[in-house]
Amino acid sequence: MRQVDVAIIGAGAAGMMCAAVAGRRGRSVIVLDHADAPGKKIRISGGGRCNFTNIHTEPGAFLSANPRFAISALKRYRPHDFVALIEKHGIAYHEKTLGQLFCDGSAQQVIDMLVSEMTAVGATLELGQTIKSLERVDGRFRITTSSGPILASAVVVASGGKSIPKMGATGLAYRLAEQFGLSVTETRPALVPLTFEPGLLEKTKPLSGIGIDAIVAQGKTRFREGFLFTHRGLSGPSILQISSYWREGQAIEVNFLPDIVFDEWIARLRANSGSDSVISALSALLPRRFAEFIVTGSGVSGRVADLTKAHIEALKGHVTRWTTKPVGSEGFRTAEVTLGGVSTSDLNSSTMEAKSVPGLYFIGEAVDVTGWLGGYNFQWAWSSGWCAGQAV
Ligand code: FDA
Repeated sequence: MRQVDVAIIGAGAAGMMCAAVAGRRGRSVIVLDHADAPGKKIRISGGGRCNFTNIHTEPGAFLSANPRFAISALKRYRPHDFVALIEKHGIAYHEKTLGQLFCDGSAQQVIDMLVSEMTAVGATLELGQTIKSLERVDGRFRITTSSGPILASAVVVASGGKSIPKMGATGLAYRLAEQFGLSVTETRPALVPLTFEPGLLEKTKPLSGIGIDAIVAQGKTRFREGFLFTHRGLSGPSILQISSYWREGQAIEVNFLPDIVFDEWIARLRANSGSDSVISALSALLPRRFAEFIVTGSGVSGRVADLTKAHIEALKGHVTRWTTKPVGSEGFRTAEVTLGGVSTSDLNSSTMEAKSVPGLYFIGEAVDVTGWLGGYNFQWAWSSGWCAGQAV
C-alpha cells in the first residue's frame, strides 16, 4: 500500500496551496482530485482573469457562524504574501476596483503557478481519482481511491463546496465531516443571482440587460456596486453581495441615485426646468427605459412643474428606496460559493485541524467561512490552505 505523510483531497485553490506549503516543510504529499485538470474554478474565476485577492481583506468581509474564526488564518497569510508569490512568478496584475487584484492575462497563470510550486517541492498530483472511502486505521488514515488504497498520517479535505456541480462540486467534504462526527452548518448558495416570481418578472423583463450603479440593502447590510436586471430577476455585483445575507421571504431595498440628494435635485429641476416631463428629467440620470419603469410604478406622469408633494414623495420612494421581494435564487447551479459548511466550532482556527480527530483537516470553501465578492474567497482558500500546510 502506498504511504504518504499528507493526502490532500481536492486540487483546487486551497488544496494546491496546502500541498506547496507542506511539501516545502519536507512532507511527502499526494493531491487527489476526481477532475481531469487542477483548479477548474480558478480558470473560470474573475471572468477568466482570476480576482486572486483583495488588498482590503479583513474579517468583516466574511460570513460565518463564528465571525472571529477566520481572524488568525487571515493574519498569518495575508494578501501581500500571495501578491509576493504572484510577483515571484512574474505574473502581471492590476487593481480593478475596491482593492480587487486581477491577472492582466489569464487565470491559467495562477493555476500554473500553484502546480509548479507544488511539484517543485515533490508533491504529486493525481487526477481522475474517485474517493471511495476514508477510514481511520491505527492513528492513520486509509483512503481508498479508484487506483487503490493510500495510507496517510494526515488528510486535508479541500474538496470545496456545492456551488456549480457541473464543474465537479460534490459536497464530499460535508459527508466526510459528518462521518467523523463534525457538525456541518446549513449550506446555501451565496454570491448568486436572485429570481422573481412570474408576475413581477413580466413587469421587469423588458428591463433585462439594464445595469445601474446602486446601493442594495437588506436590513443593516448594504453594498454599492453594479445592479443588473436579468431575464430571471436580478444580478450584478451588488445583488450577488446581498444574496449572501438575504433569506426567502425578505425584501431588499435599492437606491438607484446613490450620488444625488433627491430633495435638492427635484427642487432645482422645478426651479429651472419645470416644463420637462418627469421621465425625461429622470432619464438624465438613469437609462430611459428604467426611468419610464420607475415613473410609471410611482403613479406619476406629466411635467415636473405639476408634481404635487405626494407625487414627489412617491417618486422619491420608488427611485431611492425601491423595495422588492425576490422569490428565490438561481441556486448552486450558478452560485459562486457555498455559505455555511464544516462548523468552525469543531476546527482549530490556527491549523484547521478537527479538534476531535487529530490528523484530519478541512480548508477552503468546505469550511463555514464565506467571503464577499471581490477576491476574498480565494484569500480564504490561500490563508486556510497555508495554515494547514504549516501544521500537517
Ligand atoms: P475548489 O472548488 O476550488 O476546489 C475543490 C476541488 O476538489 C476541485 O478541484 C474539485 O474537482 C475537487 N473535488 C470536489 N469533489 C471531489 C470529490 N468527490 N472527489 C475528488 N475531488 C473532488 N473567488 C474569488 O476570490 N475571486 C474570484 O474571482 C472568483 N470567481 C469565481 C467565479 C466563479 C464562476 C465561481 C464558481 C467561483 C468564483 N470564486 C471566486 C470563488 C472561488 O472559486 C472559490 O471560493 C474557491 O475556488 C474555493 O477554493 P477551494 O480550493 O476550497 O475549492
